[in-house]
Amino acid sequence: MAHFSSSFTNKIGSLFINPGGPGAAASQLVVFVAGGALQTPLLDTFDWIGLDPRGVGLSKQVECNMDIYAERVSLFPKTQEEYEKLVDKNKRLGESCRELTGPLLEHIDTVSVAKDHEAVRIALGNEPLNMIGLSYGTQLGAQYAQLFPDNIRTLVLDGILQHSQGEASNILTESLAYSLALSHFFVWAGSDDSSPLKGKDVEALWLSLLLNATETPIPALSCNGTDCRIDVTAEEMLFNAQGYLVFSVPGFGESWDILSSALYNATLGDASALSTRFDDHTAISELAIVCLDWTHTSSLTLAGVQVKKHMAETFAPLTQGASQTWGLQHTCLGWPVEVKNPPKKLDVDTDATVLMVNSDADPSTSYAWATGMLEEIRNKVLVTRVGDGHTSLVLGGEAAGIIAEYLISGVAPKEGLVTTS
Ligand SMILES: *[C@@H]1O[C@H](CO)[C@@H](O)[C@H](O)[C@H]1NC(C)=O
Ligand SMILES: *[C@@H]1O[C@H](CO)[C@@H](O)[C@H](O)[C@H]1NC(C)=O
Ligand SMILES: *[C@@H]1O[C@H](CO)[C@@H](O)[C@H](O)[C@H]1NC(C)=O
Repeated sequence: MAHFSSSFTNKIGSLFINPGGPGAAASQLVVFVAGGALQTPLLDTFDWIGLDPRGVGLSKQVECNMDIYAERVSLFPKTQEEYEKLVDKNKRLGESCRELTGPLLEHIDTVSVAKDHEAVRIALGNEPLNMIGLSYGTQLGAQYAQLFPDNIRTLVLDGILQHSQGEASNILTESLAYSLALSHFFVWAGSDDSSPLKGKDVEALWLSLLLNATETPIPALSCNGTDCRIDVTAEEMLFNAQGYLVFSVPGFGESWDILSSALYNATLGDASALSTRFDDHTAISELAIVCLDWTHTSSLTLAGVQVKKHMAETFAPLTQGASQTWGLQHTCLGWPVEVKNPPKKLDVDTDATVLMVNSDADPSTSYAWATGMLEEIRNKVLVTRVGDGHTSLVLGGEAAGIIAEYLISGVAPKEGLVTTS
């Protein structure tokens, strides 16, 4: 757990923040914030609490055999043999995680993490909760509110993940969100002065790269096979590009300018920035958590996988089903630990008005999920940010201002607000 407190005295109280993933460390986010990464009045008004969920960051981490993790299998199996190879890898990987992590692996679901947040809230003086959940952190926040509706002062859900839709619906929703964001990126990358792809038809270039990488994987010249894979298949390119759409503005390390450079380099024969990484521990934590939180029954046969793939290709030809949701539905196949916190509609009934914020072009937590959550939270206000990128707080725009004002005053804004920053 990391804790940040500025020198000002008249604090409102503690503010929990969860950066999402799952697998991202809240402690690290608080360290960035303390280092000046975020300009907001919330720094002077709250003690920031970054509680790393079970299996994540400074908490005891999930550990797995990384040699098994690095084995290359397709998440888009076309034959029974490919399908069985995928399930077998997942099973052996999961068994290695169970052996190296111990029984903790069975208890890192989001309900358990919500209860941990309640224990820490009580330990910090039993004041009503103030919390910002970003991305997956919104699922944590919503599940907390379902369990402890009377213990909340303010709750912000920024970049909303809905934990109740069906498996196929989630793939459709996220594939379309990724696809929409990608098409916005193509327009920007083909026209912005800062983009090395300026003047090019970037959509055509994307499709051509995919076609080329399908025939022969593109080399990743800065990877040595231990830090990242030495070449990149079309499928890996599809999955790995999504992460760069998180921020449309530069400076965040997961942003459009880097994707533009990554694609440009790939056309020159070096796809390093699109290569699958093996040195990112958050991916292991994420995998172990999502396998306890999400079902994958529609993928229990090859035919089921193929129907979903066909659906995704039909509706979202640019991304073809690749998405975080597809990843979790197919890396949890064969996982040795049972689902503990399956998708389920919530009925959050709080006195505190929950503040929901979502971009209409979010590349990963679709506006469709935010809209869907309106029926799962009784007392809420949804602010729509018209624009690109995933989550709004860190952008420091109008939506971030609304979030800060709500957390400080404890009063929700009026319904129906639409912002452009
Ligand atoms: C691969 O590169 C990483 C750093 O990028 C380095 O730590 C590691 O030792 C290298 N491994 C091999 C086998 O060269
Ligand atoms: C593209 O290649 C250039 C030259 O090697 C390098 O400086 C840049 O970091 C690469 N872009 C990405 C996203 O890795
Ligand atoms: C794909 O390969 C063809 C044939 O080698 C090449 O002409 C084309 O430029 C490649 N596409 C991209 C986007 O690099």
